[in-house]
Amino acid sequence: MTQARIGLIGLGVMGANLALNMAEKGFPVAVHNRTTSAIGEFIAGAGDLASRLVAAETPQALAAALTPPRAIVIMVKAGAPVDATIDALKPHLDPGDILIDAGNADFNDTRRREAALKDEGFRFIGMGVSGGEEGARHGPSIMVGGAAEAFSEIEDIVTAIAAKYQDAPCAAHLGADGAGHFVKTVHNGIEYADMQMIAEIYGLLRNDEHRSPAQIAALFDDWNGGPLKSYLVEITAKVLAATDPGTGHPMVDVILDRAGQKGTGRWTLIEALKLGQSASTIEAAVGARSWSSAKDLRILGEDTLPRAAADGTGPVLLDGDLERALLAARVIGYSQGFSLLAAASDEFDWNLDLARTAEIWRAGCIIRSALLDDIATAFRGDLPGHSLILAPAFARLLGDTVAALRRVVARTALCGQPAPALSSALAYYDTMRTARGTATLIQAQRDFFGAHGFERIDKEGDGHHGPWGMG
Ligand code: 6PG
Repeated sequence: MTQARIGLIGLGVMGANLALNMAEKGFPVAVHNRTTSAIGEFIAGAGDLASRLVAAETPQALAAALTPPRAIVIMVKAGAPVDATIDALKPHLDPGDILIDAGNADFNDTRRREAALKDEGFRFIGMGVSGGEEGARHGPSIMVGGAAEAFSEIEDIVTAIAAKYQDAPCAAHLGADGAGHFVKTVHNGIEYADMQMIAEIYGLLRNDEHRSPAQIAALFDDWNGGPLKSYLVEITAKVLAATDPGTGHPMVDVILDRAGQKGTGRWTLIEALKLGQSASTIEAAVGARSWSSAKDLRILGEDTLPRAAADGTGPVLLDGDLERALLAARVIGYSQGFSLLAAASDEFDWNLDLARTAEIWRAGCIIRSALLDDIATAFRGDLPGHSLILAPAFARLLGDTVAALRRVVARTALCGQPAPALSSALAYYDTMRTARGTATLIQAQRDFFGAHGFERIDKEGDGHHGPWGMG
């Protein structure tokens, strides 16, 4: 059988495009799919690249098409299918072979799999791949976790297929075991927050200012030429400009208002909470998707619950407020995401390079944006507490934009337009710029009902109590 340089299992949209990308860059790929009819169909549709694709009808044939130490990319549904694929492959592998999970995996699973496979003599890489179908085919952003020496054996392939930002590949080995998948998960969390913020600005333009989708599309298109330049703003303009061929209505008007979610946003939150963090903008976005699913309840609510009394009034927005508010909230969303990465890096000893992470997000991935270059620069500097909002450039940017975010959040509250992500961004900002907050009262309450004790500002120790019994 013809020898291939790398194997790939799972010819769904992402796997098929990744295989074509690798073949195009000159690497012969052996491909396998559980439903074997897809293998022949895929190769038949691969055009000139078919000569670099080797069909493997079974896991055994896939292993036979590769020279040890083998490298095999697994691109199947997260969870049990990944374990089943590994189990099916293992009898045909040799010690030292490398398995690469390129799906959106829960990093806890990646850590577990890496440890178990290491005990059996195999090497395991958890590789986050972002950029959707187009990215997989022509250049995704690639976040790698696992043993560095294992990565070095496939680095030429990963670098060749990755997106390029000013000629630099958007791919990096970020840390041990689950680091790559964790970073990809947080990438998706930030993606959720950014999408939600964009949707909230859209809601205000649509329902408060009564602008048409086409008008809003033009506005987003305009913003995409400025500091908000990003893939998500760009596609928002395109989505809003689209018309349903069947009805002639704006496409966005014929789509049911129930958002799906595959789980990465939720994973981000779960891990944030486990690490004692709160990524409130991401939480708002995940929650908003869940609320969107309560369609029946919302239909009842619209008839039953009083609407905002100040409908049509409230703070008047100034020219440019919406653009500036979105920019401020986006910076805060990124800041929360990076704080979470820093906390996980400490917890799991990954030594994550946050500047490098920002750099490999500058092209190929869904959250690519003009801000990421400045974010990388900020992390290369001396950043107190890894907090992006404290970097001089971002503190200045927030100084120029937060007043707009305040007016926008106030406007949404008074006209009854839900804005959970924008308002949680503002609450985070105001909390982080308040040196002495209201947790004094929380501590007093805890001590009152549970004698939990508190620290005082004027004495050592954490076991102080209030004079509650005396009142
Ligand atoms: C990417 C995307 C990709 C995918 C998400 C969407 O980086 O390429 O984030 O991973 O589109 O799975 O997830 P939801 O279905 O949860 O929105």
